[in-house]
Amino acid sequence: MPAVHIQSHVYLIGAGPGDPDLLTVKALRLIETADVVVYDRLVSQPILNLVSPGAELIDVGKAPDHHPFPQPNINSLLVSLSHRFSKIVRLKGGDPYVFGRGSEEAEVLRDAGVAYTVVPGITSAQGIASTTGVPLTHRGLATGVRLVTGHCRAGHDLDLDWDGLADPDTTLVVYMGRGHAAEIARRLISGGLSADMPVMLVVDGTRPSEERHFTTLAGLGATAATIDKRRPTLMVIGRVVELADELAIPLEAELGRVGHG
Ligand SMILES: C[S@@+](CC[C@H](N)C(=O)[O-])C[C@H]1O[C@@H](n2cnc3c(N)ncnc32)[C@H](O)[C@@H]1O
Repeated sequence: MPAVHIQSHVYLIGAGPGDPDLLTVKALRLIETADVVVYDRLVSQPILNLVSPGAELIDVGKAPDHHPFPQPNINSLLVSLSHRFSKIVRLKGGDPYVFGRGSEEAEVLRDAGVAYTVVPGITSAQGIASTTGVPLTHRGLATGVRLVTGHCRAGHDLDLDWDGLADPDTTLVVYMGRGHAAEIARRLISGGLSADMPVMLVVDGTRPSEERHFTTLAGLGATAATIDKRRPTLMVIGRVVELADELAIPLEAELGRVGHG
């Protein structure tokens, strides 16, 4: 019998920070019609509930300090799924191209000759800017924004130019920085930022369990130490944090809306 040729396509999709209402229309359409969905730990349950009951769901979630499914295995899984299914959705938290390793998966698919499309998602920095009322830029407070990672491999130093990042006119958003918060604060203060510079830590941003913690660089390490490391946490450092009092949407009002259209 001749081999059956499956026309397969992989969609690398950003699921946004958690609130299903923040999915793009394109992402929603693809999630609802996928044959198989490969998803990360940060993809929220309300979004997984949108997957068709007939589709296969594969969890490749990585918890902090625990990698049950290493990246090379995810890469080869996507290629092997392309031999069995026609519409493969690879679902990632936030945006696949912002600290999402989506571009590494795209390289592997390209090298294997598998067709793919990247569907952007709202990155967590954008999502929490809206719920917390802390804009990423604001005339007179921040002329720019930098998104950086505070994560480093075990035994390695936080190899960023912290002196260069210590700019009072730029908002600094640190992904994956909770575990190194005290060190990050120390580096930024020694780079010239005031110890009184406001900082906001947002846990589970845009989800019903969202929490906001307000502190300063001086208090950052102690505040971050109170947060459970399993919960995604974003750090916003800069004068824009002062606007939270004026522009924040009260948690209850926002949460009443989440997931209910
Ligand atoms: C591997 S990175 C993935 C980032 C993702 N691609 C994005 O665009 O948001 C994971 C980190 O993103 C941040 N993050 C993702 N979702 C979040 C959320 N809902 N609330 C707070 N931080 C979040 C946390 O810093 C978390 O450790």
